[in-house]
Amino acid sequence: GDVAVLVPAAGAGVRLGPGRPKALRLLAGEPLLVHAVRRLAAAGSVHTIVVAAPVAEVSAVRELLAPVAPVTVVPGGAERQASVAAALAAVPPGPDIVLVHDAARALVPPELVESVAAAVRAGHDAVIPVLPIVDTIKEVDAAELVLGTVDRSALRAVQTPQGFRRAVLSGAHAVAADALTDDAGLVEKQGVPVFCVPGSEHALKITRPFDLALAEHLLVTER
Ligand code: CTP
Ligand code: MG
Repeated sequence: GDVAVLVPAAGAGVRLGPGRPKALRLLAGEPLLVHAVRRLAAAGSVHTIVVAAPVAEVSAVRELLAPVAPVTVVPGGAERQASVAAALAAVPPGPDIVLVHDAARALVPPELVESVAAAVRAGHDAVIPVLPIVDTIKEVDAAELVLGTVDRSALRAVQTPQGFRRAVLSGAHAVAADALTDDAGLVEKQGVPVFCVPGSEHALKITRPFDLALAEHLLVTER
């Protein structure tokens, strides 16, 4: 395997409602992070996995993941970007391709991991999985008055894993100023072209209780 995967998992999960940090919430009896790491480890190209855990849960996460896959666990940061940077700093020499995958996308198909890695291997310095937008999108002003309708055919919803040539991701993080919600955004600012590959509905981000219910259903029907 020539791929390292960074797994930001240090978020609180505020939008999921009160409870443990989101990565440790249960889906069909197992923490979201266990589902995510198991699927990442099932991708044959994956050599190294580094998880950024909530600071208070680092040793708990180490114990939790030990039976799942060999992983390195580091304390995450206050923002997602800081968590990714902390995980990146813990990648050993070797892997030339680095993927970043949200623990919240717990049901990522291993095939999606491979397709992102393959596109980087084929020569794209930055690769993101995307889906078309299904809703009509309006731009509004501060008073909720519609300014216009956006041409959704030119828009994409972005998922993870996002894949990078290692030096490209390291370079982008080294100069990152303001926090962004994804890593491709940092790379874009460096002027690096970002290539889109087809995403997967199974890689949905579990954000709100509705998403958790949907993920439970997907798990039952895929068995
Ligand atoms: N994340 C992280 N460190 C942070 C914030 C987020 O590692 N300081 C991770 C989350 O654990 C998650 C991913 O980034 O796997 C995407 O973030 P999001 O879905 O927003 O998760 P949370 O920040 O936990 O949720 P919320 O915003 O509802 O609190
Ligand atoms: Mg968040």
